[in-house]
Amino acid sequence: MSLLKAAREVRENAYAPYSKFKVGAAVRGASGVIYRGVNVENVAYPEGTCAEAGAIAAMIAAGETELIEVAVIADSPTPVPPCGGCRQKLAEFGRAETPVTLATTDGDRLETTIGDLLPGRFDMSHMDKA
Ligand code: THU
Repeated sequence: MSLLKAAREVRENAYAPYSKFKVGAAVRGASGVIYRGVNVENVAYPEGTCAEAGAIAAMIAAGETELIEVAVIADSPTPVPPCGGCRQKLAEFGRAETPVTLATTDGDRLETTIGDLLPGRFDMSHMDKA
């Protein structure tokens, strides 16, 4: 199954009663296995979590720590951009060149990479003097 199809399918299960904005995400682990996630909102708004975070959590829970491909989809006017926090989360487990597909439910797509989504990211090297 394509990663985008997995993200599109799982999006239906998003829990987004407050924003009404359902997001589906899928990441492919280095093993080839696909992990899915959706946004899970909460009446205490800051407690909500993004679809990307859910997919990453599923991958980690399964024992994988490297992702090689990402897809995110929502019913947005342009391909949905991951929030800043999710860019950092994706960067933790992917490489700068890891491909990311951003999509709309209407069929628009934007192909990018983790590095392009988060240039100049904070990484381990910045703690070298600690
Ligand atoms: N959201 C995601 O799940 N991923 C993104 O990439 C963008 C935003 C969710 C968070 C919240 O539940 C809703 O979309 C509106 O911000």
